Amino acid sequence: MVKVELSGAKDFFDVIGPDYSKISDAHRTLLEKTGAGSEFTGWLELPQNMLKTELKAIQSAAARIKGNSEVLVVVGIGGSYLGARAAIELLRSPNYNLIKKDTPDIFFVGNGLSADAINETIELIGDRDFSVNVISKSGGTLEPALGFRVFKALLEKKYGANAKKRIYATTDAERGLLHDMAAAEGWERFIVPGDVGGRFSVLSAVGILPMAVAGIDVESVLSCAVQELQDLTQQRSAENPAWQYAGARQHLYTLGRTTEILACYEPSFRFMAEWWKQLFGESEGKNGVGIFPASVEYSADLHSMGQYVQDGPRRLMESVVSFDEPNSELKIPFELGNRDGLNYLAGREYSAVQKIAARAVAEAHIKGEVPNISISVPKRDEAGFAALVCFFEMSCALSAYASGVNPFDQPGVEAYKINMFKMLGKE
Ligand code: PA5
Repeated sequence: MVKVELSGAKDFFDVIGPDYSKISDAHRTLLEKTGAGSEFTGWLELPQNMLKTELKAIQSAAARIKGNSEVLVVVGIGGSYLGARAAIELLRSPNYNLIKKDTPDIFFVGNGLSADAINETIELIGDRDFSVNVISKSGGTLEPALGFRVFKALLEKKYGANAKKRIYATTDAERGLLHDMAAAEGWERFIVPGDVGGRFSVLSAVGILPMAVAGIDVESVLSCAVQELQDLTQQRSAENPAWQYAGARQHLYTLGRTTEILACYEPSFRFMAEWWKQLFGESEGKNGVGIFPASVEYSADLHSMGQYVQDGPRRLMESVVSFDEPNSELKIPFELGNRDGLNYLAGREYSAVQKIAARAVAEAHIKGEVPNISISVPKRDEAGFAALVCFFEMSCALSAYASGVNPFDQPGVEAYKINMFKMLGKE
């Protein structure tokens, strides 16, 4: 389970402290499914449902893709993209396509409108065998629909009638353009459950199929997630890490901390932070309220954003994610002559240096009046990933309900679409 440490934030609380009665009410509302958006709380049961239903079919599709494709193109955006990429970067590598492996390269497309990005992906695939996993719950989002059109045409050119055996569509069970096309063409279909919103869907086929293709132990991810959600939903007290995190950030928000930066010292966490930004940004930022979610990658960003964090306007709170144990060790070598002056570190592990640096940074930022919330899991592995996903989803729902908004809708994203489709001449 995730551990939350609030000692770096407590000095910034007022005498009353976090309002856990609000979090408790939010918890009840969520579990009793009586709040706004309650029809989208299927993520609470998602891992156990996946283990019982789609997992076997996903694993056999993944085995087929691994057997006949050197590349998998994953087409999707937002909640239909970020979770899978976050998992693959965190659990395999941010350089996944470059590492030596017995699983296909994976390219993510359909998450923007850049011709350059698509052309580069086509060039990188070259004449290698590939398959496409197109993911869209609504089945009509412009960016993935356009991207899919391009890669479907490439598949058809390369494989003719057999192209349809290389298309895997993850979409609504009953409706939408993608659903209709998949049903008509006979592409293999996976479900985005109707009661699970995009940004809460990483543990459905949306995330699980690309993760399985990348060689991640998805059964272990789902089993760990079942346990995590059980713990997070059963514990109704301020000992619950989701209560601690949601309570602290809502309290700090009422005290003027309007921006939260999520920091981590592992580069492999970068897309977890992107996933987290969508989760909290889309869930909380509405009706004129909401903490602005931003992210930094330490220690690199200490040399770019560090100045602002230490010394800029005091509207920040900082949440730092860490892993108790590193996945590998590296001893700092001794150098004869010590010309770089680093022998005082010789013989120490990199991970130990990282831990000390993180402690020093936290102390300095707290002194610079940035409240610090520490979030940790034992390891950067399947269990750690599942724990973080469930913890953030639960915290997000509690935090949004406590702030009085519906965590599960996103009415604001329609405004630009209306303008764009009008300008593009959509009939
Ligand atoms: O969280 C959400 O619902 C959104 O971010 C969607 O995931 C995103 O807009 C993509 O939608 P779709 O899967 O319908 O293409």
